[in-house]
Amino acid sequence: MTSVAIDDDLLTAEATADPYPLFARLREQDPVRWSARHRAWLLTRYDDVSAAFQNKALSNDRVRPLLAARRERGEPTREPTAADRVLELIGEWMVVSDPPAHTRLRRLAAGAFKGQRISAMGEQITALVDELVESFAGGDLISEIAYPLPATVIATMLGAPAADRDRFREWSDELALVAFGTGGDARAERHERALRGLREMDAYFRELIALRRREPAEDMLTALMAADGDSAAGDRLSDDELVSMCALLLFAGHETTTNSIANGVLALLRHPGQLARLRADPELIAPAVEELLRFDGPIKVLNRWVVAETEIRGRRISPGERVHLVLASANRDPEKFADPDTLDLARRPNPQIAFGKGIHACIGAQLARMETRIAVARIVERLPGLALAAEPRWKPSLASRSLEELRVEVR
Ligand code: HEM
Repeated sequence: MTSVAIDDDLLTAEATADPYPLFARLREQDPVRWSARHRAWLLTRYDDVSAAFQNKALSNDRVRPLLAARRERGEPTREPTAADRVLELIGEWMVVSDPPAHTRLRRLAAGAFKGQRISAMGEQITALVDELVESFAGGDLISEIAYPLPATVIATMLGAPAADRDRFREWSDELALVAFGTGGDARAERHERALRGLREMDAYFRELIALRRREPAEDMLTALMAADGDSAAGDRLSDDELVSMCALLLFAGHETTTNSIANGVLALLRHPGQLARLRADPELIAPAVEELLRFDGPIKVLNRWVVAETEIRGRRISPGERVHLVLASANRDPEKFADPDTLDLARRPNPQIAFGKGIHACIGAQLARMETRIAVARIVERLPGLALAAEPRWKPSLASRSLEELRVEVR
């Protein structure tokens, strides 16, 4: 396979700090590139990433095959371990399923994400944000505001009592640790602890489900338990599936939303002209958040497995290979966005694809937009002297664009 000579390592210190120059080289010189370093195809142009979301040769089903292999290797009589149960729970997630399993899970989840239910959360989210922003006197804006907010919102929406909400944050971190795998001995021990935590989460959600069966409420969990009105047989989620769905919502909605708030605030602090524009015109918040998601969104790369031979821009892609859809590069493609490296809070049109596209497009996008809008708007309004206190560092992650900390001063 001929490859243009570019260092395509997305995990160097330089690319971790600022991946956009590398994305620009890839888009220009080798937009459908086999990367030996990442053992995956890198798609970096908007049109190719967009088309990949519709390509049936590219599959999301990547946990079930692991589970099947694990079962084949294991002793048939062995008791399932905590790791088995957690993998099973993750294997049920719609985000790692293809149709028809995906279609069914998505349909059953849709009722919980109806527009009205999300809009009704506006006041509670504003109250939560106000509480966090008012007690903020400078320091790490992530640990004090951007991190606690989304897990608390999900816990509230699912109907968990306020006293239990801190545990949701721990479970979310533990899920991330297990879902993204481990390496090294120190991490192996953390992994074991995380598994114990997730067992607790499993038991917790089961109890909450049993309670909601006895006492239905106006919450998301009760909505998830409802039968599908369109299916004659009244199809509904089993208890295992409900537990798995709760874990997915917590996992998918936490780090992403934390990063959309943190990356957004950082971009504003680095573009004082745009920050002043938003302060002068708070109505700009909706297009501003679309632009912040485009400019430096939470997800760099999504993964797909190739399950049938396919061709992209003349390159033959074969079953068994992996494809990385580089969302963060697509969102800076000059073929799609004028002056893509310029932050323009009033940019229109803005067809950014930070939430993906097609059948897996983010089901929580309306909620994520609302949380980010309220949080960014309140931070800008209530903390007028906000300034960077230290140069932030990015985490060396392939999938996410995630800051270690965001240290700020409130003058
Ligand atoms: C700014 C924050 C967020 C971003 C950037 C984001 C982004 C995404 C993207 C790109 C996908 C598609 C994954 C794929 O195609 O493989 C996705 C799927 C998903 N997201 Fe989000 N998300 C965010 C917040 C949320 C929130 C708040 C929730 C729920 C509480 C959520 C729940 C989900 C779920 C359940 C899926 C899987 C949908 C499916 O497979 O059909 N996300 N998200």
